[in-house]
Amino acid sequence: MRDFKKDFPIFENNPGLIFMDSTASSQKPAFVIDWIKEYLENDYSNIHRWAYSLAERSEDLYEKSKKKVADFIGADSWREVIYTYNANYALNFIAWSLGKSEFLKKWDKVLVSIVEHHSNIVPWLILKDEIGIEIEYINVDEDFNLDLDDLRSKLDENVKIVSVTHVSNVTGQIFDLEKVGEIVKDYNKDILFIADASQSFPHFKVDVKKINCDMIFFTAHKVMADSWLGVWWAKTELLDKMKPIFSWGWAISWVKKFEYKDNNSLPEKFEVWTPNMSGAVSLLKALEYIDSIGWYEKIEEVENELIEYTVEKWKNIKEKYDIKILWSLNPKNRVWVFSFLVPGIHSIDLADALAEEDICIRAGQHCAEPFLQSENCSHTCRMSLYIYNDKNEIDRFFELLDKVINKLK
Ligand SMILES: Cc1ncc(COP(=O)(O)O)c(C=O)c1O
Repeated sequence: MRDFKKDFPIFENNPGLIFMDSTASSQKPAFVIDWIKEYLENDYSNIHRWAYSLAERSEDLYEKSKKKVADFIGADSWREVIYTYNANYALNFIAWSLGKSEFLKKWDKVLVSIVEHHSNIVPWLILKDEIGIEIEYINVDEDFNLDLDDLRSKLDENVKIVSVTHVSNVTGQIFDLEKVGEIVKDYNKDILFIADASQSFPHFKVDVKKINCDMIFFTAHKVMADSWLGVWWAKTELLDKMKPIFSWGWAISWVKKFEYKDNNSLPEKFEVWTPNMSGAVSLLKALEYIDSIGWYEKIEEVENELIEYTVEKWKNIKEKYDIKILWSLNPKNRVWVFSFLVPGIHSIDLADALAEEDICIRAGQHCAEPFLQSENCSHTCRMSLYIYNDKNEIDRFFELLDKVINKLK
């Protein structure tokens, strides 16, 4: 297996570091880091309405970044790709905009899954308070797959939106969104189907046509690019009908003292701010890096091998300490995210003890409190991997987990 670790300077600069928190945010390859520097040193300037070549080059890179994203997700046009600041920002923007555009009115219903990240729950709850929409949860089955019968049973004439994650950031389970799209659109083609690709886009090909969704959103920092850049894609006809919730800069055609006129062109209508231009370059370069290592096939190949290896290791220690796991022992259909709770030990204490041994994992509620509550947990640890992890690190993790559990028990 190729040693991807060498591509990521953080490891050379932190000898002994075992980073197992990539579900929160991934590390960045030198290729991306060098290009951010290159861009800031050679091509940086604000974009749009330029008269000089520096700004032309800057805009060119910004546009290239969107073309690359459009290409990766199978979108018809880069103009359908809107950059926000992260996934949370994207969904807050989407929800408010749908409310303002009167897609959603009092008593309309939004279906989400029980495993959603708060970013796909709270914006809807805000609209519940503001305009009286309803929100209902679709359950998962014993393997943490979306319960499709439950989805079918909850579809009724009040449902206007089905918004579900592609992959849970707690269970790592991949939802069959092609099937979800089919069920939702067969029931009523006017229901908006929104997919949160924040945990799928870093791992495998996400094709908006195959899923048959109306919108997706994800966050660049989880896919080896810089933070403070989110991606929101939607079909042109939908974007045309939606109203922006912010208005200045590029969203405005003209302003008089007591009047203004919207600019309805895409994507300017929704990108009212000076964008995160170096973030856009970092995403372009992260996707070029994925191209260069053998595309998603390579990531999936490494991932599948490490998942099988890790699941076998988990089986032993789970039995030994009666560990509660919030993921399926079936290694198929999942990404490398492993949430767990050791009885009698607080997850934060466990993560702290592992941190002392230079192992980085996350502990807490993972912004998925409704799901944790449904599993009778108030916290878990979460170990997650990426292409820079290897079997030696996994062995070391389990060795230290055993040691730390014995110490804390
Ligand atoms: C499934 C999912 N959706 C959304 C988000 C939010 O991402 P961001 O904090 O970049 O907005 C996360 C982050 O963990 C996530 O895992």
